[in-house]
Amino acid sequence: MTENSEIELLEKNKKSIAGGVVSINRATNPTKVFAKAKGAYLWDINGNKYIDYHAAFSPYFLGHNFEPVENAVIDAIKSGQSLMGAGTTTWEGELAELVKECVPNIEKLQITNTGSEATYFALRIARAHTQRDEIIIMQGGYNGWHNDVCYNLMDPADSMQDYTPGNEHSLRPFSAGMPKCQNDLVHAVEYNDIEAITKLLNTKNIAAIILEPILQNIGIVKPQNDFLQKLRSACDSTGTLLIFDEVKTGFRHALGGYQSIAKVKPDLSTFGKAIANGYPLGIIGGKEKYMSYFHHEDSSKKVLIAGTYNAHPIPVAAAIATLKFLKANEKEVYEKVESLGALIEEKLNQLFLSFDHHANTARQGSAFVTYFMDHLPTCWTDIAKNHNFDLDTKYRQLLIEENIFQFPTPTKQGSISFAHTEEDILETISKTDTVLQKLKDKI
Ligand SMILES: Cc1ncc(COP(=O)(O)O)c(C=O)c1O
Repeated sequence: MTENSEIELLEKNKKSIAGGVVSINRATNPTKVFAKAKGAYLWDINGNKYIDYHAAFSPYFLGHNFEPVENAVIDAIKSGQSLMGAGTTTWEGELAELVKECVPNIEKLQITNTGSEATYFALRIARAHTQRDEIIIMQGGYNGWHNDVCYNLMDPADSMQDYTPGNEHSLRPFSAGMPKCQNDLVHAVEYNDIEAITKLLNTKNIAAIILEPILQNIGIVKPQNDFLQKLRSACDSTGTLLIFDEVKTGFRHALGGYQSIAKVKPDLSTFGKAIANGYPLGIIGGKEKYMSYFHHEDSSKKVLIAGTYNAHPIPVAAAIATLKFLKANEKEVYEKVESLGALIEEKLNQLFLSFDHHANTARQGSAFVTYFMDHLPTCWTDIAKNHNFDLDTKYRQLLIEENIFQFPTPTKQGSISFAHTEEDILETISKTDTVLQKLKDKI
């Protein structure tokens, strides 16, 4: 339950922070102010404990304040590691080698602070290499906040009435302040719509297709009918770069990213979130022939990559410790989260069935979401037209009242971590039962 002290703190912060909360998309209804986190749990400023499935938009794959990662950070500070900002460092080299060992498709990489920076640089390389300017993004995909990709995220069904399958969408910027000329460079298509993509590749000057290999910013929307394989072939035949944005899927589903599960090799990949278990770090990596644009000998072809804090020793220490732990415990970690994921999926589906609800839980490994519709979606339009958004919001709000924290925005993915236990999942199911009793008449 939201308590007065949480609302008071938000009001106080509104006096100094624009909107009262840093990164406005973190604002919650009900207002929540968390003060402490450990493993699978959060505590709010009133001391109430929650089972956390938000994981701060999913980086905490090993759980909050995971000791091996925290110790590595403390050791890095104590040993005198600092932001040198001159020359290479032992720690950036160690992290690069580890990432390459995990993701064999990566021949060379660079390190950034965030996923958005990584996707930005990936598109710059694609444009430098192809000498083309336009790109294709997915309706309902999220690849960061920058102008290149900040379009068509969660558009309501009534704003998409001019859309027909097999074609691109009208562009809808996700932010004010974006230059109109940017609209000439971006095409938004539905995920899984290979026909729309092929048309664009054959008629426009497309430098790259960038996509989350599973759409995970609108729940879990998976590739159908070899969609990713078809993208690979379509890119090959048109000289277009295929960029997998694995910021959310990477290291959460497998050490080698979702690309290792799908067995599709993108030209460039971006990673973030789970790679450093909660610390700010992004990776752009891929084939050497593309990554070498960052140090091209012809200065007119050289792609700028810069950033004062890139490969800062603290997030790098966190990423090294995270990857070392995942490598050393690969089987145990991925088997555990898979079995917890399977348990929550099975129990949620059983529970909703017993209440006769049109609801379906979608899942990939430790990531899950319940859609209030009678089938699992194949793209955003499907969700926009069929999902019961009001009910989803109410469901999440009632779960928070029961101390189960899933982000209270419809379709946001739930994230199980290695720190969660079977008891946590069963307690979640029991609380969900209570919530469904309360919602009974509304469905
Ligand atoms: C798939 C995907 N790509 C890119 C980003 C941007 O990453 P960051 O928030 O670290 O800039 C996100 C963030 O949610 C994401 O989910």
